[in-house]
Order: sequence, then C-alpha cells, then structure tokens
Amino acid sequence: LNASLHVDPADPVAPVHRRTFGSFVEHMGRCVYTGIYEPGHPAADPHGFRRDVADLVRELGVSTVRYPGGNFVSGYKWEDGVGPREQRPVRRDLAWHSIETNQFGLDEFMTWCRDLGIEPMMAVNLGTRGLAEALDLLEYCNHPDGTHLSDQRVANGHPAPHDIRMWCLGNEMDGPWQIGNLDARSYGRKAAQVARAMKTADRDLELVVCGSSGSSMPTFGEWEATVLEETYDSVEYVSLHAYYEEHDGDLGSFLASATDMDAFIDSVTATADAVGARLRNPKRIQLSFDEWNVWYLSRHQAEAAVQPTDDWRVAPRVIEDQYNVADAVVVGNLLISLLRHSDRVTAASQAQLANVIAPIMTEPGGPAWRQSIFHPFALTARAARGQVLRTRLSTPEYATERHGTVPALDAVVTHDDQDGSTSLFVVNRSTDQHLTLDADLSAVAPGAVTDAQTLSDEDPYAANTMDAPDRVVPRPAKDVRLADGRLTAVLPPVSWSVITLS
Ligand code: AHR
Repeated sequence: LNASLHVDPADPVAPVHRRTFGSFVEHMGRCVYTGIYEPGHPAADPHGFRRDVADLVRELGVSTVRYPGGNFVSGYKWEDGVGPREQRPVRRDLAWHSIETNQFGLDEFMTWCRDLGIEPMMAVNLGTRGLAEALDLLEYCNHPDGTHLSDQRVANGHPAPHDIRMWCLGNEMDGPWQIGNLDARSYGRKAAQVARAMKTADRDLELVVCGSSGSSMPTFGEWEATVLEETYDSVEYVSLHAYYEEHDGDLGSFLASATDMDAFIDSVTATADAVGARLRNPKRIQLSFDEWNVWYLSRHQAEAAVQPTDDWRVAPRVIEDQYNVADAVVVGNLLISLLRHSDRVTAASQAQLANVIAPIMTEPGGPAWRQSIFHPFALTARAARGQVLRTRLSTPEYATERHGTVPALDAVVTHDDQDGSTSLFVVNRSTDQHLTLDADLSAVAPGAVTDAQTLSDEDPYAANTMDAPDRVVPRPAKDVRLADGRLTAVLPPVSWSVITLS
C-alpha cells in the first residue's frame, strides 16, 4: 500500500508549543508516594525525591506538570500540605478512597519542579471549597512577602514567590463522581467569580476553566457553551480530557483513536468560537488538553465496583496500567493530533507521570523503568521544533467499528527555521499491511536524514516490565531513503516513527 504527503512551509499552522509536552502529578495511588517521592529509597535526594525518576522525567522532556489533581483536588486542603511535616494532618482522600499523609505538598512540589526546570500548573479546589481558599492559595504562592500567607511561605523556607502562572479552576466539575460537582451555569458563575478575583491580585495569570470531562458526557457542548458564556472575559483556556482503550479486541478501532481526538478538538474550538461570536468578542479561547492518554478505564471501573469501602490505604496500587506496543502507537498518534492543532491547543498534559497510567513505573525501594508509551512522548518532545507545517496527505483507508472509515496513515511535520531541521511523525494504523510513504519535502530542501526510529513489534501486545524493561524500544527505521527532496519510508503495521532531516 502507498501513501503520499506534501508539505507547505509558506503558511504554517502555528509554532510548536513547549506546553504541549506537559504531564500530570495527582495525589493518587503511587504517583507521588513511591513514584516521584520516596524518602529512604537508595536513589532519593535530600528532599526525598527519587533521582532515578527525576532522570527519566528529564529524558521524557516534560515541560509543565499539572498538580495536585484530578479528582483529588476537589476535596483537598492545600494548607494541610505545607509547614513542618510532623504537624501535617493525615486525612481521608474520598476521590481515591485512600489515606493522604500530606508528607508531600505544595512546597515540595514547587521544589521538585524548580529542580527539573518544569513549569507548574496549579489546580484550585472548587468542589468542597471556593473563592476564599483559592485566593489564599494564590497569596501563599505568588505574593512576595509581608502578608500573613506569603510570610508563612517564607517561614516555610521559600523566600522567593512560587510565581505560578497557569491555574485550573477546579477539575471535571460536570462529573457526577466529582466531589461538589455542579451544573454548568452554577459552575460557570463560580469559576467566573474566582477568575475575576484571582486576576485582581495578578493580571497576568493564565486561567483554565473546566470543559466537559469527556466528549461522551451527555452535557458535552452545552456545558462548554454555558461555562464559556459566564467566563469568556476572565479565562484564557478551556480544558479537554480524553482517555482511550482497546475494547473487545478491536485493535483497528483503537489504533484510530486520534480521529476521535481530532473531532473532539474541532468541536470544542467551534463551540468556543460560537460563544465568542455571540458575545461579539474577538478574543480566541485556547484549548488545554490537560488529561489525555490510553487508560484501560473499563477494567478500573469493574474493579472499583467491587472494592470494599472499609479498606483505607496509603498510596495503594491504583490503575497501574501496563502499556504495550499498540498503546504506544496510539499515544504517538495522539501527540500527532495535538501538534496538528497547535493553533488552538497550546497546552496539554498526559495523565499521569509515574505509576498511575504512566510512562514511568517504579517499585518501592526498587527500580524505575520506561513503559512503551514513554518512547513516542520523549522522541516527539525532543524532535518537534519550530513550526507545525500544513500537510496534504493521501492515504489508503480502512473501516472501523467505532470511528467509521479512517486513514491508515497519519502524520504531522514540524520545521525549525533556525537550524533548518524537519521532523516527520508518522503512524501506520494498519494491523496487517506495510505502508510505503512517499513524502515530497522539496519545499524545505532537506539535505540528509539525521535520525529515523520506529516503534513496532511482531507482537503488538508486547510490553515492558520490571524484569524486561527494554522489551519495547524504538529501533532504527529500516528502508528510509531521501533523494531530490523526496523521502520514502516503508512503515510496518501498527507502528509509530519519527524521521528527522537536516
Ligand atoms: O487521571 C485520573 C483521573 O481521571 C483524574 O483524577 C480525573 O480528573 C479523571 O477523571
């Protein structure tokens, strides 16, 4: 089978935004405790942060991290997690039915971010709490000193303000599972009040209002329209969340998950712009895709339904999905979709970073390793630079149960004017056919292929484990040729590839 691709550098889509390569640390399962933080671990630094995990986070190329939830934030008191550790209260976390020791909190998170050069994205609790507590948190974080809460931060060992720019106004407030969930109008009004007051303190904040918790929510669309009607002037972003999984062995549909992400992004963009038009407001709301990944959610829901309610544990093993080759191909394709929409999606967070549906796995007291999905993220974060180019694709198609007829090949191309490099990110979704790609790159005048890697395997269900952490890794791509500005590449079935040219 053959596919062709043509690029037009004259009219790029948008710059590649570093914030596209964000991640998410929630107080959930073992993401924090025994994930990024484990005092006493042989690799722990003096703060208790695992150095082996930090090294992997650096390699992953994470730009921003959303924190502290997620569903967790809707019952969280941020004050519990600051100050002398021995005085911090132990609480119940109702979102994940576990015990929160509060040994890791806001200041630890900010120290960890600073060490790693990561931009924080802080969520406020609009479930059990509201305006007053959000303003307190903002004062604690961003006010220089000389006020009650900023002086507390200073006394807690952080003389310089944390200076957090991005703030999420609650989490998934439409979800019936969300503690303190609201209808769209009530949430919109509450979020608008919080946003206005926060901006009275600091005009340059970038605020994210909650969109629907998924495009399959019955209120999807209506929710975005109502919430944005209330908040249009006060926020910069609306959030999107999406998780994908293979259902009933239907690999073909699963591999086409990015078509759903494309449609989701287009619908939210259209809805936001319709609100802007109605309000006669030329401002454009940006999209923050601040939870996305593969997640075998239906398995989790089945397990959660039979879990005893008297079982309260610290850092239980929750949704520690093990990812395979097909999952990694889908993750690579979801990144292609995010990049393709860089004109509107200017921030994104893969959920989550460690252990909990995560690219990085750890054992308490033991090693840390890369899941299969680590690789497309790390390689895309490294190679996607400059501008996202507009591409014309001609590709064979195949029929799916869930998404109708879909392209067998998907791709996005970035080009960096500074160093002249071009990177192609490409997926072959076919479950059984090789695809030959013929890409006309003459418009960007490539001289040579500098790197070409493919993630694929005879067994699309092969996965990395603690004992075989490198079972699934990208390998040098075979059959990649460049001649007269035309690149040809033979792409194996169920594969994700990156090809960089100089
Ligand atoms: O990432 C896991 C959970 O998924 C988050 O806590 C929540 O926001 C979403 O439903």
